[in-house]
Amino acid sequence: MKYTGLPRRRDPSRAEERVPSMKPLSLVAAALLAAVADASSIGGADYTPLDARDGLAHSPPHYPSPWMDPKATGWEDAYAKAKAFVSQLTLLEKVNITTGTGWMSGPCVGNVGAVPRLGLKALCMQDGPLGLRFSDYNSAFPVAVTSGATWSKHLWRDRGKAMGEEAKGKGVDVLLGPVAGPIGRAPEGGRNAEGFGADPYLQGQGLASTSVGIQEAGVVACAKHYVANEQEHFRQSGESQGRGFNISESLSSNIDDKTMHELYAWPFADAVKAGVGSIMCSYNQINNSYGCQNSKLLNGILKGEMGFQGFVMSDWQAQHAGAATAAAGLDMTMPGDTTFNTGYSFWGGNLTLGVINGTVPEWRIDDMVMRIMAAYFKVGRTLQNQVPTNFNSWTRDSYGWEDQAAKENWGLINQQVDVRADHANHIRESAAKGTVILKNSGVLPLNKPKFVAVVGEDAGSNPKGPNGCPDRGCDDGTLAMIWGSGTSNFPYLITPDSALQAQAIKDGTRYESILTNYAWEQTQALVTQPNVTAIVFANAGGGEGYIDVDGNAGDRKNLTLWKNGDDLIKNVSSVNPNTIVVLHTSGPVLVTDWYNNPNITAIVWAGMPGQESGNSLTDILYGKRSPGRSPFTWGPTRKSYGTDVMYKPNNGDGAPQDDFTEGVFIDYRHFDKVAPNKGDAGAPIYEFGFGLNWGDFKYSNLQVQKHNVRPYQPTTGKTIKAPEFGNFSTDLKDYAFPKGIRYIYQWIYPWLNSTTSGKEASGDPHYGKTAKEFLPPGAIDGSPQPLQGASGAPGGNRQLWDVLYTVTATITNNGKAMSDEVPQLYVSLGGKDEPVRVLRGFDRIERIAPGESRQFRAELTRRDVSNWDVKTQNWVITKAPKTVYVGSSSRKLPLKAALQ
Ligand SMILES: *[C@@H]1O[C@H](CO)[C@@H](O)[C@H](O)[C@H]1NC(C)=O
Ligand SMILES: *[C@@H]1O[C@H](CO)[C@@H](O)[C@H](O)[C@H]1NC(C)=O
Ligand SMILES: *[C@@H]1O[C@H](CO)[C@@H](O)[C@H](O)[C@H]1NC(C)=O
Ligand SMILES: *[C@@H]1O[C@H](CO)[C@@H](O)[C@H](O)[C@H]1NC(C)=O
Ligand SMILES: *[C@@H]1O[C@H](CO)[C@@H](O)[C@H](O)[C@H]1NC(C)=O
Ligand SMILES: *[C@@H]1O[C@H](CO)[C@@H](O)[C@H](O)[C@H]1NC(C)=O
Ligand SMILES: *[C@@H]1O[C@H](CO)[C@@H](O)[C@H](O)[C@H]1NC(C)=O
Ligand SMILES: *[C@@H]1O[C@H](CO)[C@@H](O)[C@H](O)[C@H]1NC(C)=O
Repeated sequence: MKYTGLPRRRDPSRAEERVPSMKPLSLVAAALLAAVADASSIGGADYTPLDARDGLAHSPPHYPSPWMDPKATGWEDAYAKAKAFVSQLTLLEKVNITTGTGWMSGPCVGNVGAVPRLGLKALCMQDGPLGLRFSDYNSAFPVAVTSGATWSKHLWRDRGKAMGEEAKGKGVDVLLGPVAGPIGRAPEGGRNAEGFGADPYLQGQGLASTSVGIQEAGVVACAKHYVANEQEHFRQSGESQGRGFNISESLSSNIDDKTMHELYAWPFADAVKAGVGSIMCSYNQINNSYGCQNSKLLNGILKGEMGFQGFVMSDWQAQHAGAATAAAGLDMTMPGDTTFNTGYSFWGGNLTLGVINGTVPEWRIDDMVMRIMAAYFKVGRTLQNQVPTNFNSWTRDSYGWEDQAAKENWGLINQQVDVRADHANHIRESAAKGTVILKNSGVLPLNKPKFVAVVGEDAGSNPKGPNGCPDRGCDDGTLAMIWGSGTSNFPYLITPDSALQAQAIKDGTRYESILTNYAWEQTQALVTQPNVTAIVFANAGGGEGYIDVDGNAGDRKNLTLWKNGDDLIKNVSSVNPNTIVVLHTSGPVLVTDWYNNPNITAIVWAGMPGQESGNSLTDILYGKRSPGRSPFTWGPTRKSYGTDVMYKPNNGDGAPQDDFTEGVFIDYRHFDKVAPNKGDAGAPIYEFGFGLNWGDFKYSNLQVQKHNVRPYQPTTGKTIKAPEFGNFSTDLKDYAFPKGIRYIYQWIYPWLNSTTSGKEASGDPHYGKTAKEFLPPGAIDGSPQPLQGASGAPGGNRQLWDVLYTVTATITNNGKAMSDEVPQLYVSLGGKDEPVRVLRGFDRIERIAPGESRQFRAELTRRDVSNWDVKTQNWVITKAPKTVYVGSSSRKLPLKAALQ
């Protein structure tokens, strides 16, 4: 990859723009774009999603980058501590804290520099969203999609806390999760399972609860990937070139302002409200401006409107410019080098130079460090309670190179600290509660069956071991995790085969298993015996784009089961009248061909359950725990979703242009629009929010209580002037690489190699451009700035969280067994272009006894009943009539009432 270092934001105001090569769009694409441009619901004010000059989406500039607010709710104390610390730092020390030391130059997937003078260790950033990657004696938690399927805020928080404790025990300071981007626009999206389900409200609750849990444990959470990182294909040009796609820039997710607010950015506001300490910007471009230098999204929406006080960290090599990224709101570059192991950085020495020469104002670097240190202090860290990093990502050996890239500094680098505590209990419980029963003709729960026959490779172990494939990049044996950076090493993996066999032996059940999909003769002989309960296993994976498994380069290439799974299910059910299907998948698969077969007596989606897989599944099949609800729709065909991954570039060797023309209509919102009734062509087989359980629940007595709140006031006024903490010299000689320190190969330092001239020290042929010459107007202006109407506190204008309605309903278990129930609340916001309904509340009410009634209660905030208005750039409650619905899924909504 070749980076010029010039900013690539397409601000019309900038003369220096290096416009990526654009090929003319196809007529169809142009027509689609024209349609978007004409729609009056988008655009407005000074925002034009499409640039009239070239027909491409563009992102409006937003400068300067907002600085921290000393009075921001929940951050006051952290601010004061950060101010006391940052005020003592030199410029070099500040740069050290913002810049990674380079790929594999440190024990963690990312480390910034330390401040030895004041005793601050090098902060450690480590994957990922389901617990620790690249370590040992850690737990392997359920993947977030399975956690999402629990619909349980307290389980999300517990999971976050357990993951945070493990991170803390290993000396990790920032855990790189949770995820709400991708949100799940296309069911094929490779990393969808890293998030909580295909809805912004559900994602927001999952993101916020998990962040709170992680931070309670004393570790900074990192909500990612901000934003619209909806597919793996073309997320990075280098990766794409390696696959034979000669694109010069990352894919651009082209999204209108309303859809951005109501769908893609929505969950991040919940995390910001909950106090998340960091946010990771994504690889993709948004409206042709890179995620990590998109000033509208970082400065305007995240730090401005949402009032985010923590720090923005780049995804790994997602930074594509130096001073321009600082101006656009990036606070930390990861892993620090331009691309892995170049030894050069857009920041490091370049940032030191940028501050000295005035292209990066002092207030901006001070704000970067303030944000990083405030997040650190906010979660309870102090200089006294630091945990030294006691593991090393790059080897499991005890002794090795501390600097793996340079092969320097041999020593004890892995201390095998066991951080698992009793987290296995939580993992078993939450994976069971996130298992979804899609069909049950009465066979479940199993009760001492006479004979169980388990069929399918997905029930057994990987012959190469649970960690046999790097970053879980294969589909061998039972599937319990996605692949890529969002993975952990398993401490053990309980297979369905081993857990079901143990249960069978305990019950006196006869048990046999055939752990291959390709032994039909033996399978047939087994499942045609009398009295067999056949449990057939099949799976479909998914993961991150740098790994290709069987032609699935992260994103799935189809929505069918893998390894002949459909045929296995069809074959067994054609000869066995009691076939239970268990699916381990990263998202929906097509069950159209066989779900209706009466011989298939149960269908269970076991998601991606983590280390306790077999135990969790057994707990559900035998009725020891209550199952969850599907966090996405099971459509009848691939086409029925209305969205898909873009698999071929559509803009020559320029950035592929992915127009999100469906707007907010993804998953159930799309299905509700095009196929509202059960019999309609393209109607879901199993809808969003659906799942059976052990009870028989009746919903009654819907009550809506309206609260009197004062009318919405857009925030007015101005920020304080950008504060500066400390001062610095402009003499290059003061920044020379110190004599007494050994230069480690490929390390990124804050010092300068040369002090003769900035140009020589930087090595950038374009060196010498002033801020005026290449940054947009206002980029370095530290004077008080007008506050945005939608802003006011972390999460946005405080009044967005005013409770307007309290909704209650009675849930009665008329069944014969105790069960959890997941009541869901949907709101119709009205208006002709709005979704039929959107999720705006839910609860998991646990252990409702037969005959027992419990109350479901939900609070609807102003934000919950508002739409984003592009003209006023604020949330508004439209005049359209609004209706609230309560029920057990997005389509089973027996209760409804008008919202007055
Ligand atoms: C400074 O950044 C430019 C790109 O903007 C890069 O080419 C150069 O190598 C960097 N210099 C250092 C010392 O890392
Ligand atoms: C920057 O961090 C590195 C590595 O952690 C450390 O060796 C160096 O002394 C730090 N530089 C300054 C100026 O503190
Ligand atoms: C790839 O694209 C670049 C321009 O972006 C061009 O110079 C180069 O020749 C192309 N390579 C191939 C193999 O097409
Ligand atoms: C200041 O330093 C930055 C970072 O190296 C560089 O991009 C810019 O061209 C320099 N500008 C001036 C005026 O020296
Ligand atoms: C076992 O199968 C036989 C023959 O189909 C049937 O008569 C018997 O009732 C079955 N027993 C059980 C416990 O299902
Ligand atoms: C779908 O992809 C899987 C995994 O690569 C593959 O096993 C399967 O054969 C594909 N299905 C079809 C219908 O091509
Ligand atoms: C169901 O299983 C029986 C064998 O028990 C078989 O004869 C029948 O054809 C199967 N039905 C279907 C629809 O596959
Ligand atoms: C700085 O100098 C060292 C050796 O003195 C060299 O190895 C390294 O590549 C240089 N780094 C940069 C960023 O120019």
